[in-house]
Amino acid sequence: MSDYESGYPDYMRESLEKVAATRASRVGKSFKAMTAEEKDKILRDFHPDWKMDQKRGLKVGPSKGQLMPHEVVDILEAHSIIKPEDIDLSSIDYDIDVLIIGAGGAGLSAAILAHDSGIGPDKILIVQKLRLGDANSKMSQGGIQAADAPNDSPTIHYLDIIGGGHYENKPELVEAMVNDGPDVIKWHEELGVLYDKLEDGTMQLAPGGGTSRLRMHSCKDYTGMEITRILMDEVLNRQIGYVEFTSAVEFVMDDKGQVAGAVLFDMDSDEYKIARAKSTILATGGFGRLHIQSFETTNHYGATGDGIIMAYRAGANLIHLDSTQFHPTGSAYPEQIVGQLCTEKLRGRGAQPVNVDGELFVYPLETRDVEASALIRECFGRENGVTTPSGMKGVWLDTPLIDIINGEGTIEREFAAMFRNYNKFGIDIRKEPMLVFPTLHYQNGGVEINVRCETSVPGLFAAGEVCGGVHGKNRLMGNSQLDLYVFGRRAGKAGAERAKTTKIGKLNLDHLKRYEKGLKEGGVETTRKSPMLLPEYRGEKTLEHQLKLL
Ligand code: FUM
Repeated sequence: MSDYESGYPDYMRESLEKVAATRASRVGKSFKAMTAEEKDKILRDFHPDWKMDQKRGLKVGPSKGQLMPHEVVDILEAHSIIKPEDIDLSSIDYDIDVLIIGAGGAGLSAAILAHDSGIGPDKILIVQKLRLGDANSKMSQGGIQAADAPNDSPTIHYLDIIGGGHYENKPELVEAMVNDGPDVIKWHEELGVLYDKLEDGTMQLAPGGGTSRLRMHSCKDYTGMEITRILMDEVLNRQIGYVEFTSAVEFVMDDKGQVAGAVLFDMDSDEYKIARAKSTILATGGFGRLHIQSFETTNHYGATGDGIIMAYRAGANLIHLDSTQFHPTGSAYPEQIVGQLCTEKLRGRGAQPVNVDGELFVYPLETRDVEASALIRECFGRENGVTTPSGMKGVWLDTPLIDIINGEGTIEREFAAMFRNYNKFGIDIRKEPMLVFPTLHYQNGGVEINVRCETSVPGLFAAGEVCGGVHGKNRLMGNSQLDLYVFGRRAGKAGAERAKTTKIGKLNLDHLKRYEKGLKEGGVETTRKSPMLLPEYRGEKTLEHQLKLL
């Protein structure tokens, strides 16, 4: 290697030299995107969603029969962690109009819009398992899509989303999302979000996998952090109520059959508390910490799928939970950050996935499911991966191309967080590539909603990653960020409107008894309990997923 010290082990040197030697010839090289037939084949052969032995049909509840990963069925076919007879519903700890469960992008947006819609700050309560803002939303790196450029339109955005989602999306949800998109960006800017701009003051926009226009708005490579910071400030400034280190564990219902709040678990005092609410908004995010098929994950610690369980026990429909998103580029080395997100924006700005011999083997901006499958094929179908000291395989993401293509300083400026993070391990991503492998990133499916974010259960609204339908069977980059704010705002408004006219009846937890009966009738025999609230790592083997691929 040349004049710098490599942060990688010596035995990787030969491969790194090949990457460096082929770099110049790859600048500006276009790799042909796959045909529809090629995409279909690679997905069937290599995408984890197509491993049918890794799924089973659900035996209980309104979505009985739906195929889902075993890990998801396991938490749905489980007993509640509470016994109805142990919970005192006569003692109300929080009596509010709008209860919001989850304080990521969707929950914070819902709170602000509920307040804008006339609900007093003391009549809104945000319940957060960890700290305010601790969620996947905050960890988003690459950007948020919205069709606000002169050469773009919500219609073009719509077509990209539907194509990426394999035409399985709920069209009315996609329509709502793309139409609200430009207004969300305007709202963010009015609140104070500092999006990256070009010298002429217009938005700096980047492409993403499957987007036909430059549509990604970003705040360097910590877009979610910047937006969350602003939304949190807004919630705090308005003095909207919130409690931290408190998990919702089940909904409370009333004798009119509506959701009327939730049973909360105070993780500091180990006490159960009752929140009674006229409208309840579920914004708990996804299930990334279930490590589907033992994949590593980009997700935050609290992403244990609690929301889908609570909603399902209350009778809500679930949709598209057979489909899970694996981000093509999770870190495969250094060991300390395996699974962490290496943003798609790196490829958007010119980084190429190359194999052990320095060969570009896939168009860098295929949709995520196809791109991830190509990386898995390169490592396990073609045996062209690089093995790490712990036995994991990965391919190179050739980041030095970014500065070559866009000018020196681009990496430091646009990927400030990633540059700093890798530097801590002695890897300078301006000079050396990153070693990557797909990582569990997103719950494509979830609770079914309509455009007002109503679920099939009266009184229960849902927004963000806990929901399914908008992204179909594969989400495109930057559309979860948009989803959070579009549907968070809609849920806050609709929840507030409903709260103004709703009367709550006598509280009960009868739905839990009905669910228990359903488990018995479905022949489910288990000692499992859910929600799990926090993931369990003790005794787990790591990197098991790759062994399964062998
Ligand atoms: O690659 C990324 O920055 C992830 C973005 C997303 O999931 O939307």
